[in-house]
Amino acid sequence: MILTVTPNPSLDRTYEVPALDRGEVVRATGERVDPGGKGVNVSRAVTAAGRRTVAVLPLGGAPGALVAALLDAQGIEVAAVPVAGATRSNIALAEADGVLTKINAPGPELSAAEREALLETVRSRSRDADWIACCGSLPRGLAPSWYAELVARAHAAGVRIALDTSGPALLRALPERPDVVKPNAAELAEAVGRPLATVGDAARAAGELRERGARAVLASLGADGQLLVSEAGTWFGAAPVAAVRSNVGAGDASLAGFLAAGGTGPEALASAVAHGAAAVGLPGSVMPAPADLDPAAVTVTAEVPVDRPLKEPVS
Ligand SMILES: Nc1ncnc2c1ncn2[C@@H]1O[C@H](COP(=O)(O)OP(=O)(O)OP(=O)(O)O)[C@@H](O)[C@H]1O
Ligand SMILES: [Mg+2]
Repeated sequence: MILTVTPNPSLDRTYEVPALDRGEVVRATGERVDPGGKGVNVSRAVTAAGRRTVAVLPLGGAPGALVAALLDAQGIEVAAVPVAGATRSNIALAEADGVLTKINAPGPELSAAEREALLETVRSRSRDADWIACCGSLPRGLAPSWYAELVARAHAAGVRIALDTSGPALLRALPERPDVVKPNAAELAEAVGRPLATVGDAARAAGELRERGARAVLASLGADGQLLVSEAGTWFGAAPVAAVRSNVGAGDASLAGFLAAGGTGPEALASAVAHGAAAVGLPGSVMPAPADLDPAAVTVTAEVPVDRPLKEPVS
């Protein structure tokens, strides 16, 4: 079982509009609501992969109830932590030409009691977990050291923990030795404080996160593929994508694929790459099912192409 923790989930409303016209009434031609949040995406992808998952979510108000109902309808078990503030609603405006504009709300501030209830729920639900995956930004009320605390508690309980976050929340957790962290290229560059121009730059930056405590680093490099830097070795994986439809949630699908395949070594990297490639071929944040995967298209090598320039360098 893979337990996911999303400290700041959302109700995602997407409006399809012909074109955005500031200051005017824009009439939507379509509308949809989805449960949102990076750990929620991981749970959806883990479910699609046929593995058990439980999603731990602080939920409040009518939007929170709707998030729980939508996940329930998708067969995803939710461990809800009731909070006084309403779960945030995020708005996405999808224009006909493919441009997506997102408005993300800050979300409710968690009280001291709610913080404690969240930690206690993770503890009680992690008994039969193979992995805990902690994903996304922290809501107001949770200190940047909150993920560090979660990693320490998971290890005290003998459970492996994956962390997909950025900025101070990531840096503060590294000394607690998370089993894997999954930065994208921009998050990796920010963590080491320098630009990334080549695959070798990314590999060196990932190695630095290991020196700072991460046991393994799964660095997703967008169209360039993924690197796994671990004690057992470093591997580079990639897969061609015929048509990119949406890269939203591709990193979340990758982490789900990595954990569902055991969470260590080149086979798990290959699964991560297969899930990422499949996710970008699907619309919105739709998570791939086994039929969407093309494992034969994935290449994984221990000979990292260090001099290869990144198609999407980070300056
Ligand atoms: N344009 C692309 N072409 C081919 N593969 C892609 C492309 N974009 C993403 N991928 C695949 O998906 C993986 C994850 O993408 P990316 O690095 O953009 O994640 P991310 O920024 O963490 O995304 P998110 O946080 O929205 O889930 C990549 O490492 C790669 O395997
Ligand atoms: Mg990401």
